[in-house]
Amino acid sequence: MNMNDFIAAMPKAELHMHIEGTVSAAKVLELAERNGVEIPYTSEAEILAAQDYGFPALENFLDYHYMCSSVLREGRDVFEITRNFLNKCLVENIRHVEMFFDPQQHIERGVSFDELMDAMTTACKASDVSTGLIMCMNRDRSLDSAIEMLDLAGKHRGDIIGVGLDSYEEGNPPVKFQEFYYRAREEGYRLTAHCDCDQKDAVKHAHQCVHNLKVDRIDHGLHVLDDPELIEVVRSREIPLTMCPTWRPSDPEPRRLMALRKMLDLGLPVCLNTDDPEEFASRYLTNMMQSVQQDGDFSADEMTQFMRNAFRGSWIGEEQRTAHLTELEAHLETYLQQK
Ligand code: ADE
Ligand code: ZN
Repeated sequence: MNMNDFIAAMPKAELHMHIEGTVSAAKVLELAERNGVEIPYTSEAEILAAQDYGFPALENFLDYHYMCSSVLREGRDVFEITRNFLNKCLVENIRHVEMFFDPQQHIERGVSFDELMDAMTTACKASDVSTGLIMCMNRDRSLDSAIEMLDLAGKHRGDIIGVGLDSYEEGNPPVKFQEFYYRAREEGYRLTAHCDCDQKDAVKHAHQCVHNLKVDRIDHGLHVLDDPELIEVVRSREIPLTMCPTWRPSDPEPRRLMALRKMLDLGLPVCLNTDDPEEFASRYLTNMMQSVQQDGDFSADEMTQFMRNAFRGSWIGEEQRTAHLTELEAHLETYLQQK
């Protein structure tokens, strides 16, 4: 078994991916046609070319992302993309995945909260992959809208493991959602929030996530490295950092390789994730991990460490976690013995 095979066959978990970011270029075109939605692309090549946006990266990415997800107009569409993604997970040897969904977007486009949940849970229950759903609030929308989502989520409490915060970060600090997070914790949800890369007030926002929102996880979390107190809090409280070393078509290699190396060396619980796999050239987890390994020169044990951190940081039961970790260690052992 060579290193690429080792990574391909590794039992995996993914904790940071948005279901709306799994619509392939072909599917975007198919759904645009089926639902009569006008989009500024007429071919797969045009859609893929649009993935080469420039800076500011988050804003440009999100404009593209929301354009592509605007083709999702019915519960059936959401069911199909969820089913397709979970089928992909099987090929990737992803044992457990925690999926973000943006309810505010779907409701605005005419898919009710109940229809949305029905579409996703039907696909999840039919799959052999273990799944968890995380309800993400668009941070550029109001606190009232977020609280409204929490009310709608009430009757689906058993199907939603946690809540998150995503979308345009500048000017939308975590504290804007403090009340939402307090209520969500009281209702028993696990808590996470995006602290995106290269954002204004990034360190301040990470502090707010840890100290005001009291999150269980941080999505991305690159700028934790910019502040010694944050490094210490993340390390001592073992707050998982769900980094996404994605890349655009013309990027020379995965982004954030130096940061990943530093996080591992500092003993921070960092794991690897694809964020929006159909919208970056990095695509799915195996491909991303193989490139990260090669370009970052990570050892088999270090690649396994990213995955230990993913299983440890996941919101699954202890028995399931132990079983996955045991399988993961056995996989590393087999590789090391035959090397
Ligand atoms: N929505 C989808 N992907 C996102 C990301 N990486 N950051 C913020 N919002 C998102
Ligand atoms: Zn994300």
